[in-house]
Amino acid sequence: MKEELKKVVAAAQKEIREVQTLHDLMQVKSKYTGKKSILNNFMQKISTLSQEDRPAFGQTVNTMKQQLLSLIEEQEKIIKELNYKKTLEVESLDLTLPGRKRGKGSLHPITKVWRELEDIFILMGFEVTEGPDIEDEFHNFGALNTPEDHPARELSDTFYLDDNILLRTQTSTVQIRTMEKHQVPLKIISPGSCYRNENDASHSPMFHQVEALVVDVGVSFTDLRDTLTIFVKEMFGDKIESRIRPHFFPFTEPSAEIDIICVKCYGKGCNLCGGSGWLEMGGAGMVDPAVFEKLGIDPEKFTGYAFGLGIDRIAMLKYKIPDMRLLFENDIRFLKQFK
Ligand code: PHE
Repeated sequence: MKEELKKVVAAAQKEIREVQTLHDLMQVKSKYTGKKSILNNFMQKISTLSQEDRPAFGQTVNTMKQQLLSLIEEQEKIIKELNYKKTLEVESLDLTLPGRKRGKGSLHPITKVWRELEDIFILMGFEVTEGPDIEDEFHNFGALNTPEDHPARELSDTFYLDDNILLRTQTSTVQIRTMEKHQVPLKIISPGSCYRNENDASHSPMFHQVEALVVDVGVSFTDLRDTLTIFVKEMFGDKIESRIRPHFFPFTEPSAEIDIICVKCYGKGCNLCGGSGWLEMGGAGMVDPAVFEKLGIDPEKFTGYAFGLGIDRIAMLKYKIPDMRLLFENDIRFLKQFK
């Protein structure tokens, strides 16, 4: 029976040392030392021994029990220590760790291009002016020589707020407002929002233009061409060519459209430029004498040029953004690319 006891105690010692949690330890404790435990069983079997063997065996069982209990106590300490360390690992505050950085904001690609183009024109001697987004028909159409029956005036193209009040469809309104308020000569740009009832990959109902107007004695088409060439090179780099081709606007004569060579294929023709090798950037022309006359400026003495460029278009071309709507969806993953 003593041999048996030794085996049981050895097994108990092994089990106690292997236990990992306090809960399991309590179970091992009751298994070996509790009321209905294995050791108590031995005590009960004491009656099968001879009278003289009983005290010694009883003592052995008790000693073994004490040993197991102190081993259990030791294991309890070890487990508690381990638990404490684990808690520390999870909850500890490591003061040597670098702080968590707050994401820095970044400028919207349109804001970036807007600021850049203002800088370019300011260096060329232009002044920056502003005009209202909410306009009347006179400044948006009438003064710009656009007849009553012109399709652009129709509700389907223009957002009307009232009979005569609308959201400007072009920044050319600021040409009129500037010439009304200030004496010629003039050399201004006017960036701002415009609105038209359109919505597709290259048109958004709200978009941005920068208008330019130069009025002086002897201003010629060559000046217009030179200014645009310099602007395009400054904005897009030396590699990018621009061209002017004939077009029609009611308030300029002659009128032209401005293209730049495709920033993706450099003229070969690709999906961005629809195979033509060129990308449209805006309209331009020499101020129509009829516009000057309406504003009391002598067209015999003064000439002028004007152009209007799409700021969003410039941003799309500069950053190779394939769809204009991406600019206004404000998806943070898209915007983060312009840091
Ligand atoms: N306002 C014209 C447009 O929005 C562009 C333009 C501006 C044309 C100035 C000529 C001169 O299409």
